[in-house]
Amino acid sequence: MPRRTTALLALTAAIAVGCKGDHAGPPPAPASSASAPVISSAAPLLSDTAAHAMIVDDCLSCHTEQMLAQQRLTPRQWASEVKKMQGWGAPVEPENIDPLAAYLAAKYSTETAPERVPTISPADAAAAIAPLPDGAFAGGDAGRGATAYHELCATCHADDAGGAAVGVHLVDRPLLHRAADFARVVRSGRGRMPAFRVEDVPDAQIANLLAHLRSSR
Ligand code: HEC
Ligand code: HEC
Repeated sequence: MPRRTTALLALTAAIAVGCKGDHAGPPPAPASSASAPVISSAAPLLSDTAAHAMIVDDCLSCHTEQMLAQQRLTPRQWASEVKKMQGWGAPVEPENIDPLAAYLAAKYSTETAPERVPTISPADAAAAIAPLPDGAFAGGDAGRGATAYHELCATCHADDAGGAAVGVHLVDRPLLHRAADFARVVRSGRGRMPAFRVEDVPDAQIANLLAHLRSSR
């Protein structure tokens, strides 16, 4: 998938370059603005912190940060990319589309040096998702888990855990077999998912939720 994406992007970039001649009509722009990104928004560029918060909320439920950092797109391409992602379910607020696209265009432009991609060994990759013993979260009750799930989680992740507008799907996730990591996400939150207090999801309740989610297919 990442390889295919890169190839597609290279193709898109090639097409964009190939099309430059079409715009030869208007008189040449003054030298000072020739390389400035063409962004319609008058808003100042987002700070790294504000942009990062948006990216966490709007993009990282489906992508890694690194995947985004590898992109090299023109302002126009970033603008249409962000809109396209809305179509795929990215919950970007309408007023954030232009600022986010402008930020991404400034940070990951066709002028930016290529991203060096760190690699991990196949063994480390496999270890990162390998099942781990349940420890303190063993022996949950799926029936109680279903009740808790419908109270606390279903609004975002859907009744059948298949995912909805906000929450990702939770069926057959490797995390369901890494109970401590699962508990950490639930208790710390992630992106648009709020943190649940340990009192509300004690170890036994985490075990119940896991038993329920493991039984949903
Ligand atoms: C709900 C899941 C989801 C979210 C959230 C999401 N994307 Fe995507 N993204 C996808 C899918 C699916 C593809 C592959 C699209 C395709 O094959 O046409 C993709 C592809 C991409 C690509 C590769 C180019 C392409 O169009 O294939 C980029 C760049 C990208 N997304 C950026 C973003 C940015 C920036 C955000 C946040 C604003 C975001 N995505 C949020 C699902 C998502
Ligand atoms: C307000 C919406 C919301 C609620 C409520 C919510 N989640 Fe989430 N959850 C999300 C979103 C959004 C993500 C994706 C976060 C990201 O990676 O950006 C997520 C991610 C997760 C993940 C990580 C999945 C993975 O494989 O990486 C787990 C596990 C999870 N949620 C479990 C739960 C459980 C269990 C509950 C109930 C106790 C719950 N969530 C309640 C929105 C929600």
